[in-house]
Amino acid sequence: MAETLIVSQTADRAAVYREIVPQIAAIIDGERDTVANLANIAAAIKQAFGYFWVGFYVVKGGELVVGPFQGPIACSRIAYGRGVCGAAYSSREVQIVPDVDKFPGHIACASESRSEVVVPIFSPTGEVWGVLDVDSDKLDYLNEKDAAGLQAIVRILEKKLSEETA
Ligand code: SME
Repeated sequence: MAETLIVSQTADRAAVYREIVPQIAAIIDGERDTVANLANIAAAIKQAFGYFWVGFYVVKGGELVVGPFQGPIACSRIAYGRGVCGAAYSSREVQIVPDVDKFPGHIACASESRSEVVVPIFSPTGEVWGVLDVDSDKLDYLNEKDAAGLQAIVRILEKKLSEETA
């Protein structure tokens, strides 16, 4: 079945998140394959905002391994605690980085990345399952509003992961 994402042409990113969150919920509601759902979530965020890089890293063997994403090729693996993604993994907290050059240990997978938000994704048992990483090529661009919108998307994904293991 063809899926269509409806996105208003507005600079109000919080409004766009409010618009796409229920659409993302509907898209993944009918699909139980995790890779399919991660792929469509990354595509929906990319389509709505046009960010430089949008995607997932999934915890495998104690490190982060790249999953479905939209954007230029990326580091395949990121160690626990390394870079912004590794910091979200080890701290279990959302990372909002307005200027990646000021983040100690930032991994420059792509030199175009200037600001980023990384949201940890929790498994039904409370461990970090992976992270949602969104990178902008604009300095000081990604912010708390993105973090809130991306967390709302991650909550939908976590619910889906918990249903799959129930
Ligand atoms: N910027 C990330 C690395 C991954 S990507 O850029 C796709 C980080 O420091 O965790």
